[in-house]
Amino acid sequence: MRRPLVAGNWKMNGTRKSVVELIDGIKGGLGHHPAVEVLVCPPALFIDSVASQLKGSEIRLGAQNVCQSTAPGAFTGELSASMLQEFDCCYVIVGHSERRHIYGESDKLIAERLAAAVAGEVTPVLCIGELLETRENGTTEQAIAQQLDAVLKLENGVELLRQSVLAYEPVWAIGTGKTASPEQAQEVHAFIRAYLAKYDETLANGVRILYGGSVNATNAADLFSMPDIDGGLIGGASLKVNDFVAICKAAG
Ligand code: PGA
Repeated sequence: MRRPLVAGNWKMNGTRKSVVELIDGIKGGLGHHPAVEVLVCPPALFIDSVASQLKGSEIRLGAQNVCQSTAPGAFTGELSASMLQEFDCCYVIVGHSERRHIYGESDKLIAERLAAAVAGEVTPVLCIGELLETRENGTTEQAIAQQLDAVLKLENGVELLRQSVLAYEPVWAIGTGKTASPEQAQEVHAFIRAYLAKYDETLANGVRILYGGSVNATNAADLFSMPDIDGGLIGGASLKVNDFVAICKAAG
């Protein structure tokens, strides 16, 4: 059984005040929620205060990126997995489309970041997904395979993915209000599992694959009802207490 996971990616949003209100609201709205794992990924500056606010709560804390180096040193602007660990982050997003497309992070760098997260005992949430033009020219599966291959070709690639969560996020659906239909998303999720099964059946069946891209309180239940969708990575709607709580409840 794959336990559903709903993760809020807050991106570069929030103030000291709004973050406290958001966490209070989510804690109060969710209560005890054993059927679904809930994760929030605030901007790094807020991680410490959110960690304090989450003490004793079931809600998990994550970061939005991690350095590819496990050793401390000259990596201006980066955070290591051991730093994230020290500040109670058990997950970290890697390879988000904004990192890939605004900051030019390559498949190779993303695979290295993922490996560093696993080495530091922080679970990576690896984002993969196709651009609109890729979907339109019918090469979505090749694009997804290429993003997975970057990790699979590492020496211990299968083991690294076994310790990861995947998030399928079609780039054309992120922040656009255009969600993939449950059938469109399911098709790609099933492809990802079939592709991984060529390497390792247990990995293919066990790895959690989240859907992300304009998930909201209205469309979440239909998406989460698909057999290969194990929850969601939520951007905009994770900043609104009622929407995020409703999405979490739709998964459990
Ligand atoms: P969105 O973002 O829900 O605002 O589309 C999803 C994401 O970028 O993870």
